[in-house]
Amino acid sequence: DPNHAIDLALFGALGDLAMRKLFPALYHLDREGLMPESTRIMGLARQEHDAVSFRQRVNEALQKRLKSSEQDEQSLERFLARLDYLKLDFSSVDGYDTIRQWRKGSPRPMVVYLSVGARIYGDICRHLQTSKSLDEESRVVVEKPIGYDLHSSVEINDAIGEVFPESRIYRIDHYLGKETVQNLIALRFANPLFGTQWNQNNISHVEITVAEKVGIEGRWGYFDEAGQLRDMVQNHLLQLLCLIAMDPPSNLDADAIRDEKVKVLKALKPFVGEALGRDVVRGQYIAGTSDGQSVPGYLEEEDANTQSQTETFVAMKTEVSNWRWAGVPFYLRTGKRMPEKLSQIVIHFRQQPHYIFDPDQRGIASNKLIIRLQPEEGIALQVLTKDSGLDKGMRLRPGPLHLDFNSAFPKSRIPDAYERLLLEVMKGQQYLFVRRDEIEHAWRWCDQLIDGWKKRDTPPRRYPAGSWGPVASIAMITQDGRSWYEDY
Ligand code: BG6
Repeated sequence: DPNHAIDLALFGALGDLAMRKLFPALYHLDREGLMPESTRIMGLARQEHDAVSFRQRVNEALQKRLKSSEQDEQSLERFLARLDYLKLDFSSVDGYDTIRQWRKGSPRPMVVYLSVGARIYGDICRHLQTSKSLDEESRVVVEKPIGYDLHSSVEINDAIGEVFPESRIYRIDHYLGKETVQNLIALRFANPLFGTQWNQNNISHVEITVAEKVGIEGRWGYFDEAGQLRDMVQNHLLQLLCLIAMDPPSNLDADAIRDEKVKVLKALKPFVGEALGRDVVRGQYIAGTSDGQSVPGYLEEEDANTQSQTETFVAMKTEVSNWRWAGVPFYLRTGKRMPEKLSQIVIHFRQQPHYIFDPDQRGIASNKLIIRLQPEEGIALQVLTKDSGLDKGMRLRPGPLHLDFNSAFPKSRIPDAYERLLLEVMKGQQYLFVRRDEIEHAWRWCDQLIDGWKKRDTPPRRYPAGSWGPVASIAMITQDGRSWYEDY
């Protein structure tokens, strides 16, 4: 269908992700005219509801989340009218017949969205198949975490793969849907200025920070089993790293891009021996302050096991062992309860070899390319210019050439990651989704790190809520004569 109309079967339709992200994203697509007239959405969950009360629930969730300028009667009505509801026990094949009947005669491909725990992905896929609800065009969308380690992710991927071919599996990493993340591809491969500089001859090091202000937010049980490495690094940070480090794909096809990302994952240096203690810092927050308010430590949160050694912060120095990047450290850090929500990538360029300015100013700054994912999305290139004023002579001053997306594109709303991703699913395009081998290589690398941690058996380092993490994570970079870049 050139209009990309679909039948969307949304499993877990009353869950947190659906209410917080998926329905608002679908609404926006509809409102912007990107959802064809005939697209239908079936919400599936265990709870008792009918179409009317389900629409009511979705409506309430939308009212809560949308800005008033984004709500208009007509769009809301049109969107809600697309929704239907089916009460279903996912684990038993009995009710699945209703899905087949719902689909009967539909010319649109079905998209099955699994917004549920990965342990039941396999059951749902199988029951959809047994009940003959699927056809040759049906697609499936799955959320992270896909497993807990390589072994469990292989099992889950196998179970999905028995029913759907890889070309119709869409594994979400919502970071890939963020506007600035996609801009990385544009920036690197549309601008020879950067393209030609993008290697170890010109780049001294790379930083990736994904800091969150929030703590655990009522998810203690889930989070404690995972920890920050599995929850954030295995997926989001490694995906960012791949987009920074990959070689140019020969075109924008999904597999051309994903082939290049896989090469990066395979080239990631493992942490062995001394590197485990030297190049990785695990942290766990203790009580502190956030926005001037006292907040509890990780072990004092609701439902906490007070003995937990799970990390809520991790910083590491790694390397991509290939021709392009040999010797260039990639410093990664991510944590909960940091002073602010800040996600950014900083590419540090090497200093000029021949220097003609005031020797006192040598090393004041070098070129940096800062790619800011959040809070305000934008790109800044730090350059050195002459300071202004008659008395300044040739004194240098670092300052940014700055592209702020909100002011550069004042008329366009920056869409949420899920809007972009859902649109790509409708179009049947996979380049923003993660292929099976990517996930598995990422797990392999994380697993060896987790094994190393287990063997060393050292507790995480404490950091007060509202700080930038354990002191050791700062020492890790300062001992290389560098520092984490927090300005913009
Ligand atoms: C999710 C993690 O994948 O990403 C959460 O499970 C985290 O723990 C979230 O808070 C961060 O996403 P964003 O888009 O707010 O940076």
